[in-house]
Amino acid sequence: MKINRCNKSRVNQVDFSSIPFGQVFSDHMLMCTYKDGAWGDPIIVPYGPLQLSPATQGLHYGQSVFEGMKAFKDKNNNILLFREKENLLRLNQSAVRLDIPPISEEIFLSGLKTLVSLDHNWCKFGDSFSLYIRPFIFASSNCIKASSAKEYMFMIITSPTMSYYTKPIDLLFEENFSRAVKGGVGFAKAAGNYGASFYPTKLAQDKGYTQVIWTDAKEHKYIEESGTMNIWFRVEDKLITPKISDSILGGITRDSILHLAKREGIKVEERLISVSEILDFAKNDKLIEVFGTGTAVSVISVRSITFRDFKISLESKNDSYAMMLKKKLQDIQYGRKKDLFNWTTLLSSFD
Ligand SMILES: Cc1ncc(COP(=O)(O)O)c(C=O)c1O
Repeated sequence: MKINRCNKSRVNQVDFSSIPFGQVFSDHMLMCTYKDGAWGDPIIVPYGPLQLSPATQGLHYGQSVFEGMKAFKDKNNNILLFREKENLLRLNQSAVRLDIPPISEEIFLSGLKTLVSLDHNWCKFGDSFSLYIRPFIFASSNCIKASSAKEYMFMIITSPTMSYYTKPIDLLFEENFSRAVKGGVGFAKAAGNYGASFYPTKLAQDKGYTQVIWTDAKEHKYIEESGTMNIWFRVEDKLITPKISDSILGGITRDSILHLAKREGIKVEERLISVSEILDFAKNDKLIEVFGTGTAVSVISVRSITFRDFKISLESKNDSYAMMLKKKLQDIQYGRKKDLFNWTTLLSSFD
């Protein structure tokens, strides 16, 4: 793979004791263009601005999909990628739905490994550190016809991160706006899903909530997910989480937590969950915990959920499933415990 290295790394200019999420980027980025019906050769270049035509089709019509994944460093200075093939699969599922040409396994995986290895110094060792990885594809044709583009750009950028939320979060059931509809693109990581979610989220944040809980677009009766996380309810000793559908993003963290919870012998139900049954569980003191899962947040406890004027406060628990499952997940991600599920890919030791 062709690599144009930067002259001097910027890594020493970064204060790793406080990194705002998504604002600091590693030295290099990967680029690959699709033209004349085929993906070309990927190239790694110094991180920097792109020169784009104002008619870049993806900016006008939202043909743009992305992924969010992480690499971790173990105590021996190895880098561990986490379930990267699942992200490739999901990126291509998103691409197909947006009529974007899928990317090959070879370009994605070898590009990812080369890029992360090159910028290994940006992935620090320590519990709160990881390297957030953002692969994305957008329509790059110079054309403002409302149609699928003929040219695309695939890129990967990486960003060192710390914990996303520093304390438990407060959620509000959303009853007016919708994130996704049946037959729509909710299952895809399509840029437009996020663009449309920010205004309702801002309204909730103005009222003091961290995020909304998305409900189904038709009746606003059934729970889908929260913010950019999948959502989980612990009812007595059982976990329940919405079953994946075409209006819910199938989180890779969600799938990992499903496996880990089952291995711990916890009963897990994936099914339709109505708002009213959650309120009933709470009224009957059966709702013990609520938590969210996602790459950026890992596993995050929810402090309260609010439906209209009814606020349900959730006390933090000593025997929290969220904290126990987070630890099990991170033990694997940071290479502290045996990876029984074969989820991690080791990139050789960097000294
Ligand atoms: C809408 C949405 N739901 C759920 C998730 C969690 O998915 P994952 O665990 O793969 O990060 C994300 C984050 O990627 C998301 O954007």
